[in-house]
Amino acid sequence: MLRSALRSFKKNAQHGGCVRRSYCVAPCGAALAFLAVSFAQGQTAPTLKDAYRGLFRIGTAVNAAQFEERDGRGDAIIEAQFNTISPENALKWQSVHPRPDSYNFDLSDRYVAFGERYKMFIVGHCLVWHSQVPQWVFRDVEGKTLTREALLERMHDHIRTVVGRYKGRIGGWDVVNEALSEDGTMRPSPWYKIIGDDYILKAFQFAHEADPSAELYYNDYSLENVAKRKGAVALIRKLKAAGATITGAGLQGHVRIDRPDAQTEAETIEAFAALGIRVNISELDVDVLPRTIRTDSADVSETATGTAQSNPYTSGLTEEMQQRLAKRYAELFGVFVQHHRVMGRVTFWGVTDGDSWLNNFPTRGRTNYPLLFDRDGKPKPAFAAVLEEAKTALRLSWRGAGN
Ligand code: G3I
Repeated sequence: MLRSALRSFKKNAQHGGCVRRSYCVAPCGAALAFLAVSFAQGQTAPTLKDAYRGLFRIGTAVNAAQFEERDGRGDAIIEAQFNTISPENALKWQSVHPRPDSYNFDLSDRYVAFGERYKMFIVGHCLVWHSQVPQWVFRDVEGKTLTREALLERMHDHIRTVVGRYKGRIGGWDVVNEALSEDGTMRPSPWYKIIGDDYILKAFQFAHEADPSAELYYNDYSLENVAKRKGAVALIRKLKAAGATITGAGLQGHVRIDRPDAQTEAETIEAFAALGIRVNISELDVDVLPRTIRTDSADVSETATGTAQSNPYTSGLTEEMQQRLAKRYAELFGVFVQHHRVMGRVTFWGVTDGDSWLNNFPTRGRTNYPLLFDRDGKPKPAFAAVLEEAKTALRLSWRGAGN
């Protein structure tokens, strides 16, 4: 029975259920049958990507040491656990286009080759952002601010060159990243100030033109906050009304141990799904440390000085916090599983705790524990909790079948 469920699951994944590259749109009955049989036989799904196959993809952000295969511990985890990758920094403007007249694809070529080697769904992050973009982008040779037309031309050239280079190989792009302020209005970035609010529409048009089959996403953090969420929903509605191709919203998911709550997470996913687009959790991590700044923002320009109280787990996470983290991950994945029909992927922002940007944000040099694998690459209780949540899909389908 297990073999026949597996055969039918594979067939469904290849030919029927998963008609787009990044997500399953069918009820995924065969996948559920496969999970049901494995669980019934007492086999726990051994890896994240297997446990969630047929529901949504499971991914991680990778750094250069990982996609250059110099991080044995991290690489073993990536290959075993994940079926989609995002580049933590390698495809940002400052990495690929450091000077006006030269592109540098050394790192990004290796990133894409790594993804292809391990048959991953490869994400491009990110084309247009106000951060990690050199200041020359906004100035002419004399140092004067560019005109709207000149900046649009520069943006067009960048998108055409970068997306064009990986046409058919990078499956989905974060076209515009973090364009909104916390109150849901347009962030006054140089892109907005120089081009005006149609810069986002233009970016999506240029990206679609460069690779018509690539998925295109709007990506941002704190979209769980009502004001910002409303701003993003209005923005996407406007893009769609103007005829833009937009496949999905990336909810970054830089969350904290106690917020946002499950209900808010569910409402956020539903608000974007109601626009008829896919929802990806694009940069998931759970910050367990006390915040040293007032907001819950993931704005990398916000920094703060630390104290001993703000870095309480330098010699290890307490057992109580490990369990809280596991429960928190279970809560989040419970929501994701419930919404699996509208979700494309859940991507963690880093592989092990030691890799995470949260060791340096908003305060440098702290010891954080936001991911599923510890600094030695060992799975944490949160890992088991996430695997366990895949079974919720079974319970949901059992109830949905009228039981
Ligand atoms: O490359 C330099 C290196 O030459 C220098 O020696 C070193 C000294 O600090 O810095 C290196 O640059 C660092 C870069 O990562 C590459 O490692 C920067 O300082 C550091 O600020 C930068 O941080 C990245 C951050 O984006 C910057 O915005 C994080 O790795 C990356 O995880 C983070 O990712 C962002 C997403 O792109 C968008 N959403 C939020 C997310 C978390 O901030």
